[in-house]
Amino acid sequence: MSSSASAPGKVILLGEHAVVYGKPAVAIAIDREVRTTVEDSDVLMLNGSTIDLEYHPHIEHILSKYGDMKVSITTDTNLPPSSGLGSSAAFSSSLICAMRMRKNLKFDVMEIAKESFETEYAVQGRASPIDTYTASLGNGIVLNCPDGLGEPIAEVTKNGNAWKVSRIKVPDMTLVVGYTGIKSNTGPIVERVRRFMDKNTFAREVVDEIGNITEEGIRAMTRNDLSKLGDIMLKDHKLLSILGTSCNELNKLVDAAMKYSYGAKLTGSGGGGSMIALTDEPMKVAEAIILHGGLPFVVRTNPKGVGEV
Ligand code: MEV
Repeated sequence: MSSSASAPGKVILLGEHAVVYGKPAVAIAIDREVRTTVEDSDVLMLNGSTIDLEYHPHIEHILSKYGDMKVSITTDTNLPPSSGLGSSAAFSSSLICAMRMRKNLKFDVMEIAKESFETEYAVQGRASPIDTYTASLGNGIVLNCPDGLGEPIAEVTKNGNAWKVSRIKVPDMTLVVGYTGIKSNTGPIVERVRRFMDKNTFAREVVDEIGNITEEGIRAMTRNDLSKLGDIMLKDHKLLSILGTSCNELNKLVDAAMKYSYGAKLTGSGGGGSMIALTDEPMKVAEAIILHGGLPFVVRTNPKGVGEV
């Protein structure tokens, strides 16, 4: 028996890191994805090799929930791994969907999103639902959306934080991703921000400020005011840099892209990974990214979330 599912990657337009503490964030599912196939097997395999579950906590968390550890899992993706583009959440959502198909459970996107978030939370130590709900639901997702702007679809609570999950209509925007080629590992970066905040009132004020400008940015996006949205993206990048989540390579790509963009910023956890630029001149931005050592690609909004393939 074989079951296959896919889920999209994402870019966070505004609000990463602060969203872990219940602030708003907005993410867009992109036209790059992870496909996962689950088949019968005598032993647990990943992409043709046996694996040690100690090094694959997502797989352990998901398979043990379904009580089915002897499967062969095959993945295929056009997302660079650990690039800040949500490959981990897309893998979790697609594996959960494929396991549910294997168990003849009905397709329930909200249940997949919830299980995917529980998996990321357990593995990462601390996480918000932004990556997993975007990978599961597709299109534009806002957490803690200003009233009246999105369509609320779920409430998620964890360890004293609460997030209202809403769908939002995303205007036509051209976004160029610049991948630094440096792998970013979300868990340790989130943990570093937490330590900074525990010790420092100033860091907590930066997180509050990210929350405030994210709200403003969401309003600008819904009015299609790309110039205002771009200004806020750059401001967000500066605040994220103060939190210690940027690096020289990301700063160089953001600087280079700004010449032809409304705005640019790191996206996802940072510390490497990727940046995004909002622009009307994607080819010029792509050239600038190449010249400064990055790998560019243009992304489009993906209306599709997780599903059978
Ligand atoms: C990672 O894509 C986004 C972070 O805010 C972590 C999270 O929300 O779980 C850095």
